[in-house]
Amino acid sequence: MKNIISGLLLLLLGFTACKQQADSARQSALPSTAAATGETDSAIALIPQPVTVRRQEGQFSLPETIRIEAAGEAGAKVAPFLQDRLSKASGRKITASTDAGEATFRLLLNQTPNATLGREGYTLSVTPTQVTIQANQAAGLFYGVQTLLQLMPKEIESAAALQQANWRIPCVEVTDYPRFGWRGLMLDVSRHFFTKQDVKQYIDQMVRYKYNLLHWHLTDDEGWRIQINGLPKLTEVGAWNVKKTGYFGTFSPPAPGEPRNHGGFYTQEDIREVVKYAQDRFVNILPEIDVPGHSLATIASYPELSCTPGAEKYQVRSGEPFMDWSHGHPPIAFVDNTLCPANEKVYQFLDQVITQVAQLFPFGYIHMGGDECPKNFWQKSPAVKALMQKEGLKTMDEVQSYFEKRVEKIVSAKGKKMIGWDEILQGGLAPGAAVMSWRGLEGGIEAARQGHEVVMSPTTFAYLDYMQGDPIIEPTVYASLRLRKAYQFEPVPPGVEAKLIKGGQANLWTEQIYNMRTAQYMTWPRGMAIAESVWSPKEKKNWNDFFNRVEKHFERLDVAEIKYSRAAYDPIFAVSRHADKQLKVELSTEVEGLDIHYSFDNSFPDRFYPRYEAPLTPPKDAVMLRVITYRGKQPVGRMITMPVEELKKRADAKQQPS
Ligand code: ACM
Repeated sequence: MKNIISGLLLLLLGFTACKQQADSARQSALPSTAAATGETDSAIALIPQPVTVRRQEGQFSLPETIRIEAAGEAGAKVAPFLQDRLSKASGRKITASTDAGEATFRLLLNQTPNATLGREGYTLSVTPTQVTIQANQAAGLFYGVQTLLQLMPKEIESAAALQQANWRIPCVEVTDYPRFGWRGLMLDVSRHFFTKQDVKQYIDQMVRYKYNLLHWHLTDDEGWRIQINGLPKLTEVGAWNVKKTGYFGTFSPPAPGEPRNHGGFYTQEDIREVVKYAQDRFVNILPEIDVPGHSLATIASYPELSCTPGAEKYQVRSGEPFMDWSHGHPPIAFVDNTLCPANEKVYQFLDQVITQVAQLFPFGYIHMGGDECPKNFWQKSPAVKALMQKEGLKTMDEVQSYFEKRVEKIVSAKGKKMIGWDEILQGGLAPGAAVMSWRGLEGGIEAARQGHEVVMSPTTFAYLDYMQGDPIIEPTVYASLRLRKAYQFEPVPPGVEAKLIKGGQANLWTEQIYNMRTAQYMTWPRGMAIAESVWSPKEKKNWNDFFNRVEKHFERLDVAEIKYSRAAYDPIFAVSRHADKQLKVELSTEVEGLDIHYSFDNSFPDRFYPRYEAPLTPPKDAVMLRVITYRGKQPVGRMITMPVEELKKRADAKQQPS
């Protein structure tokens, strides 16, 4: 994005070698034998929630010498991921085993494929003496390992051996497979560049939650990030802008001669390395070349690709204002950032780019953008006018549609399928194109109605660049998406043919994200909510249960030193005015069972301060409302300092931050 603004869980019973225990998806509250006998048991808190989890009596203890039986090529591919984590975190000796009887961990392919599990499903059986993961394919074994790692105590996240940890896991029988085959996260490396090491780290983090697709947004107004042989300026010129600090979008325009040394790009060797890294982790990479809008870096490199060559000296954007959004969508561009649909050189250029992209990325789809394309420069272009006459195009949407159809032909000529943002529907969708629906679900609904494949990625539930807490405390972005709302993501709208919905994804645009720590903070825990929405059975989703598990994952992320947001603990402010015009401040929380304490006297409230019980009206001279949430004696939310002036502003504004 750039600019627009439960069910009950199934209780499952079963019988296995271990004596049957309570069987519940809300495992963390299990009255397990472990709890009954006073044994410590890492509570079961799996994200995404598996299809079935049957808790069995007893625990498995990690032996001093761990033996891994990894059957065949598939087992050999997956075993190192288990071995690496186990050896780093436990410091124990790990050997390979071919003896089914003595193996501690068994990674096995089903001799006869289990149709229920499909390509990515698995079964996981933990008995007191052995752990067995079975799947039809290597990907399933890999996801079984991810689940197994989540069953382990949080110390498994440690990069250094923690001998003192209690290396036990509860006995369970898990059967699991994904709801959707497309489970994506998008990383924008154009607005801010992230190194290939950063991208690998992001992949490592996404696979914990069984994401299988990285949508790599490689080009935009702020940078072209992929080396294209024969088009050297894309990376000599297009990959670099001026480093600015502050609030992206409001930066001062670069002065003439200011060094353009901020940014970077991936060589084709880098790309191959990242693709291989992702493939080894069962992640596909969807490359995005965003055209015809969002192309200022391209035009700065090759101005002849615009409808306005020579009109000015184009420069890669450094975060200065350059669009007017006050008239809605599409925006009006101050600087021409569009490729010219009436210029044959553009299609030759795209052919050259797409040929190489198709060779570098084995995934079957290429994303060609299509979003937010300003039309104001096209409207004034004699070449576009001539094109309209020649092709019988009546509107600017039809002009874009003409462009998209030609691009789709190029993509399909390279043996790939084109996917684009939902704007590619306008003016007529290219026959073979798939649609990524971002402006709500409507574009996806319409595309599916026309029989096209759809990936749902709506701003309303899945935009990770949006603020996740109150704007008074979060880095400013123009819209908000709280964790609870992200958890409501449902990719299949009523009445839509489910088989056309390939899945869903969350998008991390990086205008306001300057480093990997912030990328993590914005991704987690909302990325967990989306992961559960695209993996777990719909009827197993339950917010309270989910958040209980998220809290356990916070502890794991702490050990792993991955940053995440605790904004879900913060209070939510809703402000209005009483009939007598006095302010009425209502406070609530996303998470249940928290107490909100507050002060109006500028001091820092704690749990001995007044507890919020009913709407507040600030005392006449109060200037500040300070609020904090507690669970019992523990502060859990951040201290929020809200000026009364800000409350007044919100009460009188049409829309309030949610
Ligand atoms: C988008 O957020 N412009 C796809």
